[in-house]
Amino acid sequence: MPRFKRLLLVLGSVAALVSALLGGGFLWLWNSAKVSTAGSVEFRNELAVPPLAPSTVRADGTRVFRLEMQSGSTEFRPGRPTPTWGFNGDYLGPTLRARRGERVEVQVHNTLGETSSVHWHGMHLPARMDGGPHQPVGAGGTWTARWTVDQPAATLWYHPHPHGETEKHVQRGLAGMFLLDDDVSTGLALPSRYGVDDLPVIVQDVKFDGAEFDHSRMFLANSGSLGKEILVNGTLAPYRQVHDELVRLRVLNASTARIYTFGFEDDRAFSLIGTDGGLLERPAELDRLQLTPGERAEIVVRMKPGERTVLRSGPWAGGEAWEKRFSGGDDSFDVLQLRAAPSLRPSPALPARLGAVDLPDARQAVNERHFELKMSGINGKKMDMGRIDEVVTRGSTQLWTLRNGGDATHNFHVHDVQFRVVEVEGGRPPVELRGRKDTVPVPKGATVKLAVRFDGDSDPNLPYMYHCHLLWHEDRGMMGQFVVVDPAAAAGRVPGAATGSQHPAHSAHRGH
Ligand code: C2O
Ligand code: CU
Ligand code: CU
Repeated sequence: MPRFKRLLLVLGSVAALVSALLGGGFLWLWNSAKVSTAGSVEFRNELAVPPLAPSTVRADGTRVFRLEMQSGSTEFRPGRPTPTWGFNGDYLGPTLRARRGERVEVQVHNTLGETSSVHWHGMHLPARMDGGPHQPVGAGGTWTARWTVDQPAATLWYHPHPHGETEKHVQRGLAGMFLLDDDVSTGLALPSRYGVDDLPVIVQDVKFDGAEFDHSRMFLANSGSLGKEILVNGTLAPYRQVHDELVRLRVLNASTARIYTFGFEDDRAFSLIGTDGGLLERPAELDRLQLTPGERAEIVVRMKPGERTVLRSGPWAGGEAWEKRFSGGDDSFDVLQLRAAPSLRPSPALPARLGAVDLPDARQAVNERHFELKMSGINGKKMDMGRIDEVVTRGSTQLWTLRNGGDATHNFHVHDVQFRVVEVEGGRPPVELRGRKDTVPVPKGATVKLAVRFDGDSDPNLPYMYHCHLLWHEDRGMMGQFVVVDPAAAAGRVPGAATGSQHPAHSAHRGH
């Protein structure tokens, strides 16, 4: 055989071998990227219910809570302690509860050994009490937040928000619920005994490397670090005995990257009664419900005596094959098993009407702003603590158009407000997006329009955040800042911010 022919043959077989290996490797990656625990979880652990945080009431009526951020360890699996962080405990935090009109104070003490912060997600409050990256709580330090609860009953939550480190702090276990009540919510015949027929359901996905959490991200996963097992309220493989016909689940997606599509194993219908910022006008029957990171939903499920059913999460309804596979969209999980007692206390039927919903009106929008969402930043800019991106006038309503730049699935969260989702892809939003919302999914390539009203305090110098709530994206810079100013006032300057990239006064002309 001539030399060059032999050479060609050798090169040919090497190429064939390499492509077989690559193909095989890719096939392995593709197959192993899909996770399913549906039908295989044994539900051996009773669901933990976070305790209600104790509080004291001062003479002036202020309700005072104490939260201590601490490190510890948690045996999610018997005999295998995992290093974790928590509030007033080793993992997660107590449920704070307050009533509309009440003055609250939360004293936050940080014993973590590194700087963090505590943000009240969904709460309407002054920017300096927001707990975002501009309110850091240093190692060993204390920060006190005070505000008056001035919004409808809702299922809110709290979590750290240190600049660039939010994902890490939440993954280690720093998260808790903040429930608000009002005269409407307590006057309705809804399941409302905390921990009995009204259960917090804090959903997180985790994976372990030996005893420790594994927070690594698979290099093809656009969304961030995905887990392979589910924790509810910090319990692996959880079940809960229930003793009432109707059970209300306050579901919080406290995962950093995973999007869930919840439903029951037997496809039973459930009633959606509330979204991020409060109750809906009337209950809506659904059998599937999507929640992206940061979103909440209150659902009510009907149980029959002695039966068992499993809350599951299944594949995304839409999405392209590649994006779905590597961002968790093909995955299925058993989440929580409900075990009905042999005899159940009768529950009153759900009220047909829950009440009027306070939502901004898009027709009152005084101007429109556009936000292009990409992993590389919002409107082409990465988060800069010293730059004010948007200036809005106190009392105004605006139309915010979000456009996904097409690189990954995102969502969008705005601090301080509860907005109305006006349009999704040019159409009326689905029922789960029609209530008060602070976080909204923005699928790949999609356009979503919001009506946002800024009716709180003004502060020209201290911004609130808006950002993607896939925390890896947020930490990489998918976040911007807005200040609320009095009519005709200009933006100030973020205290302590290096003058540089953009002079804040430059943004002032955009105010309206
Ligand atoms: Cu739940 Cu800016 O965060
Ligand atoms: Cu928030
Ligand atoms: Cu994102």
